[in-house]
Amino acid sequence: MLVTGGAGFIGSHACVELLDHGYEVIVVDDYANSTPHVFARVERIAGRFVGAVYELDLRDRRALSAVFDRHSVDAVMHFAALKSVSGSLEAPVEYYDTNVGGTTALLRTMHEHGVHRLVFSSSGAVYGDAGPGLLDESAPVRPANPYAASKWLCEQILADVCRRRPEYTVLCMRYFNPAGAHPSGLLGEDPHGVPGNLVPYVAQVAVGRRERLHIFGGDYPTPDGTAIRDYIHVMDTVEAHRVALDHLSDGPGMRVFNIGLGQGSSVLDVVAVFSETCGVQVPYDIVPRRPGDVAHVVADASAVTLAWGWRPARNLADICRDAWRFQQLNPRGYAGAGRGPDSKR
Ligand code: UD1
Repeated sequence: MLVTGGAGFIGSHACVELLDHGYEVIVVDDYANSTPHVFARVERIAGRFVGAVYELDLRDRRALSAVFDRHSVDAVMHFAALKSVSGSLEAPVEYYDTNVGGTTALLRTMHEHGVHRLVFSSSGAVYGDAGPGLLDESAPVRPANPYAASKWLCEQILADVCRRRPEYTVLCMRYFNPAGAHPSGLLGEDPHGVPGNLVPYVAQVAVGRRERLHIFGGDYPTPDGTAIRDYIHVMDTVEAHRVALDHLSDGPGMRVFNIGLGQGSSVLDVVAVFSETCGVQVPYDIVPRRPGDVAHVVADASAVTLAWGWRPARNLADICRDAWRFQQLNPRGYAGAGRGPDSKR
């Protein structure tokens, strides 16, 4: 199994899940928002090694092709992408080039090596600002920022390839807001620089690494005025990916599934649950809305349960508990390895 972006937040948890279930795992990553330190943690949790790790950018097709030459790859889990909504507004060309160009380079290399099975990491962001209802997979797609648009472009390319080439099977996972950490506290979300995402930012405030949370927008048309999202535990997210592998043989073509909890939480809900978890009120200010954000995005996630019998097992309290454990054990993230859990080795 080739995992692109396997050093990243979701990718590293996917490596653990795959190793735990007996898969041989090869990783490619360019460490744009991750670090190779993570593999010592992955191996410590799984008790097995990732087979090989290559530092490369997917758009470097020569380097990518050499990986496919060296290993017998039967399927790919494709996580590698840039993922910040605000980053995508500042650098749309970079987002399209990295996310769409990376995906087409991967597809072309897979094609050249006779590999036709892919689990693609898409996003609930493709639905855009859809209003207060639950979004099932047939809801209209209206990407509200270049990040979301780049994921939607990838989906369209993959769907078209599947329509024209019957040898392809693509499972497209539209996940909502993955957060949390591995329950061991060894793996978690450790973005470079200031976190763009809510849960790691709150965790860094709680641990004293940042002063206060800025809540982007208190005037959304929601009950408490802050934006509502569907937070899904990263362990549930990667479990869904592993279950997807069992269904790559169900038949050719592309299938799309929402991966979410089906429950909305506002920013203030997250702050309240996290504060309760860590025993201290997380300080915050309400500031203007963040460009590119939308009011309400919550999944109807029943299709994947109907199709595969899988459903998430963890809730927002579990997300906060595990994110907090990771942050406490790794106050400076993986960069602090040596003072954190690795030092026990
Ligand atoms: C977006 C995508 C999501 C994707 C994620 C990857 C949408 C609707 N969703 O998540 O599918 O997985 O990017 O990065 O586009 N917030 C604050 N203060 C902060 C940080 C965030 O108030 O410091 C708020 C945001 O305004 C938002 C919520 O918290 O309302 C969640 O933000 P974030 O964690 O960045 O994720 P999304 O932008 O929702």
